[in-house]
Amino acid sequence: MSELTLLGLSGSLRKASTNRLLMHEAAKRFSPTHFIEANLRLPLYDGDLEEANGIPAEVQTLADQIKTADAVIVVTPEYNKMISGVLKNALDWVSRVPGGVWADKPVAVLSATAGRSGGEQTQATARHALLPFQPRLVVGPDVLVGANYEQWNDAGELTNDRYLAAIDGLMAKLKSEATR
Ligand SMILES: Cc1cc2nc3c(=O)[nH]c(=O)nc-3n(C[C@H](O)[C@H](O)[C@H](O)COP(=O)(O)O)c2cc1C
Repeated sequence: MSELTLLGLSGSLRKASTNRLLMHEAAKRFSPTHFIEANLRLPLYDGDLEEANGIPAEVQTLADQIKTADAVIVVTPEYNKMISGVLKNALDWVSRVPGGVWADKPVAVLSATAGRSGGEQTQATARHALLPFQPRLVVGPDVLVGANYEQWNDAGELTNDRYLAAIDGLMAKLKSEATR
């Protein structure tokens, strides 16, 4: 199979983020792939900023990456039962770029959280936040990594076979959407 381009959006910016680790694990399992990690370190959306300067260059880059990707993974922490402000801010900015870049895009949502539920609620809010843009959301098997602090070893490898099987299942579905 020829190499597909997979774009990953992580709602957590921190270097040791388990959602970033999860994103890279999913990308590895989507392979063969040309994987791009999106930069969500964007200015806060501000209508005055937009009016004065237009769409910031880094937002335009993100929108272009979404448009040209064969598939996108959105990996989100749970902040007070919802997606992070970082992720929502990125979605809001991209929605200001003309051209409907998410339309019909195969997208899968994954999450890692400290809580045992693995982010069931944040995933629901992530899908809700994406719906206005009409992507092709691939749903299930659920990748809900709970108790995230005990799931990765010192080498940054996810060690739980149940989660790995779920990632494999979700990436296989996403890939099949990306190639149909
Ligand atoms: C502002 C804030 C709110 C949080 N709310 C939740 C929550 O609702 N549910 C949960 O399971 N964990 C919650 N956590 C803990 C996160 O799941 C945990 O910090 C996780 O490691 C964040 O993902 P990361 O490792 O990718 O940064 C919260 C953390 C922060 C900073």
